Amino acid sequence: MDLSLADNLIVITAGAGGGIGEAITRACLAEGARVVILNRKAPEVTALLDELKSSGAPADLIELELGDPDACTQAIETVQARHGDLFALVNNAGVNDGVSLAGGTLEQFQQSLRINLLHTFVLAQAALPALKRTRGTILNIASKVALTGQGGTSGYAAAKGAMLALTREWAVDLLPFGIRVNAILPAEVMTPAYQAWLARLEDPAARLAQIEQKIPLGHRMTTPAEIAAGVVFLLSPTQSAHTTGQYIHIDGGYVHLDRALL
Ligand SMILES: NC(=O)c1ccc[n+]([C@@H]2O[C@H](COP(=O)([O-])OP(=O)(O)OC[C@H]3O[C@@H](n4cnc5c(N)ncnc54)[C@H](O)[C@@H]3O)[C@@H](O)[C@H]2O)c1
Repeated sequence: MDLSLADNLIVITAGAGGGIGEAITRACLAEGARVVILNRKAPEVTALLDELKSSGAPADLIELELGDPDACTQAIETVQARHGDLFALVNNAGVNDGVSLAGGTLEQFQQSLRINLLHTFVLAQAALPALKRTRGTILNIASKVALTGQGGTSGYAAAKGAMLALTREWAVDLLPFGIRVNAILPAEVMTPAYQAWLARLEDPAARLAQIEQKIPLGHRMTTPAEIAAGVVFLLSPTQSAHTTGQYIHIDGGYVHLDRALL
């Protein structure tokens, strides 16, 4: 199936690091798109860029802290200057930082919103003139926690819930320009961040088995590539041309299927 993404410029936050973002980067490149990754500086990020560039992939990197609004605005200006109009913004960056109602401070809550939410607004606003010219699209990577709650993570839950609200708010705002806005909600995806969280537990293997047992389809974790496959479909200006304001759960039925199945 031709997704018609070839040569389109796609900006991906946290598009490196071995998790969902890197899988999105690779899937977009496989569709012939050009990619700019917005990511904090790290050895694995530089290594990915070196690998992609040595294979001739049209990938670029802008190193920044997404919690810094000025850096986000500057990044979109740099994208424009180096590569021209972007076609898609993928707001992938996010971290479950465990700022809780019981123990978190207001400052920590605000910081959680800064690193998980506020950059999506700043980047989308800065990208808007280009998105209007390309009749482009915005894709938000939210989380099951936006709908199910998890406990102990007020900042992250607030940010992901707001991303869902903004998906529909922006889908309406941007209707006149033919710009589509959608969200994907992962639930349990094996990534470096997830592995690091597991490793901190007393018995990681037992906990993983317990989690997998609760995932209805196949009793296994979702792979980053499976999330990325949904992303490239939703970015497609042809195959996904009439899809906007949608929340797509790529989660093996985790959020919606009957608990009695388990
Ligand atoms: N893994 C899961 O089970 C799961 C479940 C639900 C939602 N999600 C969401 O999926 C998205 C991708 O998660 P992932 O764990 O695969 O991460 P990822 O691998 O896509 O991203 C990690 C990279 O992002 C960079 N990064 C993170 N915050 C940044 C910031 N503020 N500024 C600059 N760089 C930053 C890190 O340096 C790292 O290189 C996140 O939004 C996450 O909330 C993941």
